[in-house]
Amino acid sequence: AHDRRIAELLARMTDAEKLGQLQQLAWTGDTGPGGGQNHLIETAAREGALGSVLNLHGAAHTNTLQRIAVEESRLGIPLLFGFDVIHGFWTTFPIPLAQAASFDPAVAERDGEVAAGETRSNGVHWTFAPMMDVTRDPRWGRIAESCGEDPYLTAAFAAAKVRGHQGEDLRDSRRIAACAKHFAAYGGAEGGRDYNTVDVSEQRLRNLYLPPFKAAVEAGAATVMAAFNTVSGVPAHAHPHLLSDILKEEWGFDGVVVSDWNGVHELITHGFAEDAGAAAGLAFEAGLDMEMVSTDLADHGRELLRAGALSAGRLDDAVARVLRLKFRLGLFERPYVDEGAALTGPTAESRAAARETAGRCVVLLKNEGDTLPLSRALSSVAVVGPFADSTDLHGTWSGPGASRFPAVTVLDGIRAALPDAAVVRHAEDHDAAVAAALSADLTVVVAGEPTELSGEAASRSDLSLPAGQEELIRAIAATGRPFVVVLVGGRPLTVDGWIDRAPAVLAAWHLGIEAGHALADVLFGEVNPGAKVPVSFPRSVGQIPVYYNHENTGRPSEPDEPGAPFTSSYLDVGRGPRFPFGFGLSYTDFEIGEPELSRDAVGVAELSRGAEVEVAVAVRNTGQRAGDEVVQLYVRDRAASVVQPVRRLRGFRRVTLGAGQSEVVRFRLGAEDLGFWTNDPAGRFLVEPGRIDLYTGNSSRATARRTLTLTP
Ligand code: IFM
Repeated sequence: AHDRRIAELLARMTDAEKLGQLQQLAWTGDTGPGGGQNHLIETAAREGALGSVLNLHGAAHTNTLQRIAVEESRLGIPLLFGFDVIHGFWTTFPIPLAQAASFDPAVAERDGEVAAGETRSNGVHWTFAPMMDVTRDPRWGRIAESCGEDPYLTAAFAAAKVRGHQGEDLRDSRRIAACAKHFAAYGGAEGGRDYNTVDVSEQRLRNLYLPPFKAAVEAGAATVMAAFNTVSGVPAHAHPHLLSDILKEEWGFDGVVVSDWNGVHELITHGFAEDAGAAAGLAFEAGLDMEMVSTDLADHGRELLRAGALSAGRLDDAVARVLRLKFRLGLFERPYVDEGAALTGPTAESRAAARETAGRCVVLLKNEGDTLPLSRALSSVAVVGPFADSTDLHGTWSGPGASRFPAVTVLDGIRAALPDAAVVRHAEDHDAAVAAALSADLTVVVAGEPTELSGEAASRSDLSLPAGQEELIRAIAATGRPFVVVLVGGRPLTVDGWIDRAPAVLAAWHLGIEAGHALADVLFGEVNPGAKVPVSFPRSVGQIPVYYNHENTGRPSEPDEPGAPFTSSYLDVGRGPRFPFGFGLSYTDFEIGEPELSRDAVGVAELSRGAEVEVAVAVRNTGQRAGDEVVQLYVRDRAASVVQPVRRLRGFRRVTLGAGQSEVVRFRLGAEDLGFWTNDPAGRFLVEPGRIDLYTGNSSRATARRTLTLTP
């Protein structure tokens, strides 16, 4: 039915109206150069020369503008309102990197659902999320917005977030269209410097960067955003192989590809297009469907059509995609939002969801002598460090809620958990902090990096704790009094300067609006931490990139021969990361068994496409309290025509077990999970005969092994 109505509209539209549908302009609230286009928006909407607006929200505001488009423009085509809702609109959930640490995609789904309800009720139909750029470089500020270094984990979270945002039906007044971004390989920016060059082989593109996008498209993601970077010499915004061959042809994506902010015009700066007209022609012919902020297509589209640099067919296809999205969202039937039903802030339920999910994202990195959990019988606690009483816990790309609804501080969280204790704080002064530590039963040092040190264009070349914080931790350690460190931040930080002196450390990321309560839940054992790092923590910046799913090289550095000569290692830093991917402790202990293959799969003759084997893994809580463990399954192809990583995550399940309780976790492994993409640009996926090792455990260092033989 949509196709017919789209065809009817296309038949009535002028070229100017068609080009207008492909334009998105920005209301105030810049996230790049060239924003603040308020003055252009009303006129363009009235002329039917505007498809979408970003950065405007509020039921009354959006309705006012929508009325102009629907009631005053010639064809009455409604506008599409887009906004970056990355981890919450009013109710800020943990940053995506923290969510990935939960190894529980239900966390992302819940965030997506809560955010969608708050967003749509405020007149916004479309978010530019989820971000799914796999990255191996924690210098890159946007790692905070990512799910870390693993494509399989990222894909699971991407699909969950899409489901959370979109639900079953985009016409639902509590759902919004999702955007899989940034397509593609943005996380590969050289040196971790934002927007930087990415030169990537076809096999790495398809094996590492694309799987989350494919999963998001399969989950029904309505839109995709092009990446700012070049991909092997061609800017992603004008990359026919990515936008058309793979996304639209191979994967059958029928949604909208939107540019990033000013991304079309930046084709000139990249050195790819001579001028604005060429930039628009190259981008839209390559498969882009909507231009954000820059107006190159609107300005030059008609001359491009005349010159044949943009085909009428491609123009109609792009317009059809935009109209299809508007139909899917039900905007032709219900262009306005119910102003009386707008959610104006977090609810008790949304806060409870934020608190619970935040607790699931905290990683216990170290816990010597069972320092944690803390006793509720403590009569005095000192909370020190720059984040002791800070509300700067929302993290990068938080929504409008961040400025209206401050995050619960760690101090307030601890005070609420220990109403009868003396809880003192010292945020700035080291001497006062040390004095407080000397007279308290225990000290909580809340250290880390502020929000502005991660996120877009916030890359760092030094990942140690900023400004005197390492000295503070060492000074607290020197008191000899018990203490724990809560590490706040948007990325893995280097901790080698102090971690040996700290008995217990929690990775707390930026946990959002309920951060303080969630951390108190973990500190006092109400919640037993079960999260795992979704990205390797480097020992030093010089070691980056250090990641678990690396190739072996011909001369690997073996753990049992640390000083062996002529190996692939550094002379001046230990082997491997400080904390490997998938690592995280608990207040209890678990035993994870070897992978058991279902009987018919032992020595399996042929595991052809569509066939599956079952891998069963026993997990037992051997400790004294209930807790969560993440059972992880990795594979390694011993010999392949494209060398395969030493480990690839191919299954994970977070389970909750009482003391002494056990469970058998079952994974299905299909040929898709064991094969790999080759360097053939046409897209060749191979499952080669040979031996595949399967490993199970609770980190990427998993050693319990079984071997599966694939024969032709
Ligand atoms: O969605 C974002 C994108 O991730 C980075 N540049 C700006 C866009 C819109 O705000």
